Amino acid sequence: MAKVDLSNRGNFGSKFGIIAAAAGSAIGLGNIWRFPYVLGESGGGAFLLVYLFFIFSIGIPVMLSEFIIGRSAQMNPFGAFKKLAPKQPWFIVGIMGIFAAFMILAFYGAVGGWTLEYLYKSVSNQFSNKTPEQLNVLFNNFREGSINTVIWQVIFMALTFFIVIAGIEKGIEKYTKILMPVLLFILIIISVRSITLPGAKEGLVFLFKPDFSKLNAKVIFAALGQAFFSLSIGMGALITYGSYINKKDNLTSSAVIVSLSDTFIAVLAGVAIFPAVFAFGIEPQAGEGLVFQALPNIFQQMPGGYFISILFFILLILAALTSSISLLEVVVATFVEELKMSRKKASIIAASLITLLGAICALSWSTFKWLTIDHIDKATGEKISYNFFMMLDFLSLKIILPLGGLLIVVFLGWFFGKKKIREELSNQGLLKVKYIKLLMFLVKFVAPIAIAIVFLHEIGLVKL
Ligand code: PHE
Repeated sequence: MAKVDLSNRGNFGSKFGIIAAAAGSAIGLGNIWRFPYVLGESGGGAFLLVYLFFIFSIGIPVMLSEFIIGRSAQMNPFGAFKKLAPKQPWFIVGIMGIFAAFMILAFYGAVGGWTLEYLYKSVSNQFSNKTPEQLNVLFNNFREGSINTVIWQVIFMALTFFIVIAGIEKGIEKYTKILMPVLLFILIIISVRSITLPGAKEGLVFLFKPDFSKLNAKVIFAALGQAFFSLSIGMGALITYGSYINKKDNLTSSAVIVSLSDTFIAVLAGVAIFPAVFAFGIEPQAGEGLVFQALPNIFQQMPGGYFISILFFILLILAALTSSISLLEVVVATFVEELKMSRKKASIIAASLITLLGAICALSWSTFKWLTIDHIDKATGEKISYNFFMMLDFLSLKIILPLGGLLIVVFLGWFFGKKKIREELSNQGLLKVKYIKLLMFLVKFVAPIAIAIVFLHEIGLVKL
């Protein structure tokens, strides 16, 4: 039995274990809930193109950097930077990561709660014979009624807590290996039904045909945040997982496989959602509720839709859990190793605090709907009112993750040392690393400059 403590850090058992665990972290609500609705709000195909560009030019290099840092230090993000760069302030990346984990898991838990409610709604057959308008009302009524959102959010956090407390190998690996392929399979079936709906074509055009007039700074910024969020990068989750990777595993191929699968699932979710969105006359800009409105419509139009919806929401919840555990793990590993807490105590403290913060997120459309900040978007001039949920989403995805990613690649590219990078990537000379020049170019120049431009432009320090 592998248990994470100071003397005996857990390890992922096999190569498939690390890919399954990292893919489990990456693939989650980010792909199936967040990607489609952000793409819908951002005008479709042009967003997709920018998103893909960021995955390849920034995402994969940052992910690989996190694996390298984690495996070479064998520590939590905070400890890793202290160990690799003693007496330098790089550990700040670890601190930022803790903050990001708190904020992301807070709103993630709330959405996890929505999926639990939707599993319940599936089982109790609440979607059948409803018009798209009625399904819209169904979602809004749920989100605006307070108590259920919190109950489900607490249940989701409790599930996350129990998996994390069980320890790394037993807890995480077991759940991810089988589940991701099944999720993929169900998503393909849903996509097939969606594209064969009358009027579906418009949805595919929206998703795949870039309309460049829709491209502006806001869309680019949204794509960057989404890329970081979806790949689980920029906050140390994959430094933490990297620290559990076996010395014999191939880091590069793991990073590439994980990133490609994550991206594939996100695009597939788009293929499942948008044809239906157009076929049923749903607003692509519907926001956080988009997926919860579109999917039940598809299930209604499928033979066996009752069972498929149940199966789908079970899998979505499991995919969400394999991501939420990686968020909680960042905090727990840091508390255990830096504050010398027991794994149990660290898990209890971290999970309780995050659940409290998350309850406010779950109540952001009801009890706490007065808690808002108005933001004038510089690109479009429109006024957006952010509730607490949206504030945490904005702060973590659009500020901390890109900044964290920037620091991570700069650290790797300029401070870590090419020789050590080569050693890590080649597993001490066992593997060939012909791509090292390309990688160094990406982590030294392309990724940092791209992140910096998008970021400085958004906060208004640079005008393009
Ligand atoms: N990538 C996860 C998802 O797509 C969310 C996540 C973000 C997990 C950051 C860990 C760290 O659902």
